[in-house]
Amino acid sequence: MSNTKHILVVGSGIAGLIAALELSRQHAVTLVTKAVLAESNTRWAQGGIAAVMFSDDAVADHIADTLVAGAGLCNPNAVNVLCTEGPDRIRDLIRLGVAFDHTPDGQLARGLEAAHSKARVLHAGGDATGLTVETALVLAVRHQPNISVLEHTFALDLVLQNGAVAGLEIIDSEGLPRTIDADAIVLASGGAGHLYLHTTNPSVATGDGVAMALRAGAQVADLEFYQFHPTALATASSLDSSPFLISEAVRGEGAVLLDASGSRFMQHIHPSAELAPRDIVARGIASQMADQQGLPVLLDATAKSADFLAARFPTIDAATRARNLDWSRNPIPITPAAHYWMGGIRTDLHGRTSIPGLYAVGEVACTGVHGANRLASNSLLESLTFAWRCAHLLLDDTTSATSSEASALSSLEGAALPLRRQEPEQTEAFTPEARLRQPAEARTTPIDRLSLQTLMWTHVGIERNATDLRAALHTLNRSHVEGITIHDLETRNLLDLARVLVTAALAREESRGAHFRTDFPEPSAAFQHSLTYTQPARTSPTHDILSETVPC
Ligand code: SIN
Repeated sequence: MSNTKHILVVGSGIAGLIAALELSRQHAVTLVTKAVLAESNTRWAQGGIAAVMFSDDAVADHIADTLVAGAGLCNPNAVNVLCTEGPDRIRDLIRLGVAFDHTPDGQLARGLEAAHSKARVLHAGGDATGLTVETALVLAVRHQPNISVLEHTFALDLVLQNGAVAGLEIIDSEGLPRTIDADAIVLASGGAGHLYLHTTNPSVATGDGVAMALRAGAQVADLEFYQFHPTALATASSLDSSPFLISEAVRGEGAVLLDASGSRFMQHIHPSAELAPRDIVARGIASQMADQQGLPVLLDATAKSADFLAARFPTIDAATRARNLDWSRNPIPITPAAHYWMGGIRTDLHGRTSIPGLYAVGEVACTGVHGANRLASNSLLESLTFAWRCAHLLLDDTTSATSSEASALSSLEGAALPLRRQEPEQTEAFTPEARLRQPAEARTTPIDRLSLQTLMWTHVGIERNATDLRAALHTLNRSHVEGITIHDLETRNLLDLARVLVTAALAREESRGAHFRTDFPEPSAAFQHSLTYTQPARTSPTHDILSETVPC
């Protein structure tokens, strides 16, 4: 094993677990995750994994559907990789023990979801696809001797030497700061649904990987595109924290959306009605809710029998019944909620970022595969496909450590926009307490998580405009996060990300996919490209970045 390297994988959803498993064929892998190994966005995925596995389907159709949903902003090469290589990766999952559902005649079962021209969404445990995948992969990782797992370990900042990744600052499970050296780091730490007051994401989704990469000077892209899932359960209790997801597959099985008076409305908005692209359904629901004084709209699945709903959607069935709702008899209240970030750390098709030795896969990355709006059930497939490609690049990479220089993303075109003014250097030794001594703090006021999420929900949500975005940026640029708990460090990451997301949303003076500007309601040819940003790399994690955002 002379070419064995030490590779750190951060995050334990499908992307991190697949990357770790594949890398462990040759390398020593340390997998860092901030909760238990089995917790991640993946675990909560319901609908399934889209892939062309049936003779009446075609890769070209999956590609076409993905490009249409992406609203002119997809990277076609990434879409081609996803749809072409995805089926082989599904077969890998089956070999790893993932038990997808089958029909009575022994064929793989498949569902239909919005904006797919064919039923091609594989599922497991009915609507427990993510949990089934996560459980199988966690088992495989636990049995792999080349993988060390560090649970309850918070990834704080990347350590760079001569511009390349050399290690990771962590807070370990005892709450102590330390550094882990690494030859390469694969970020697979997921999205940042907790930027918003209402999100379908679990509490771990605080965007730590994108924030860390941004602070290290990596290019990020497409951050203005945050996907809102149309149907999260709008019961009083769930609106207070994370609303429970009601899978798009429910509409795929024929459920319809009703206004407060019990009439369907989506057919007046789009010919595909409830199965229109996700951004259109989410905006249709938000607009209908505004017309009915904020009352939730209703999802009506009563055309299906109680037995069918319980068998096909056991997780949702249990969740609704736990809230004293009988969805086989009555329509249930739903509302849109933040669900998936199309933007992230800019990568090529092997997960290479703009920093040598730093790789990113899954929701934390932006390959451009989703464009401005992700097609339903393409995210698990993306994680699987690109994590595998990234790992295999590193397996094939048998040259010396200097090869990490060559492995930085260099092929992507277009200069990144500078995001922030250069901060003065500080070399103080790292301690979490040092984070409190921020030079710009005197000019800022504290912001807590709830205020940040509320600001993002009200000013940077499903619909945006320049006035609200400027007001949000003004507040964000004059805010800092106090405290040194993990929750505070996560909130600080959310604040860093909120600033750049709002900057990107202000810069994109058009409407496209998930980014809808009421002051620029049409797409513009001038914006048919990604917006990419960087900020000057921090040389030490001892100072935070609270300078003003440079207008684009
Ligand atoms: C769902 O089940 O509706 C979520 C699927 C996805 O976000 O792709």
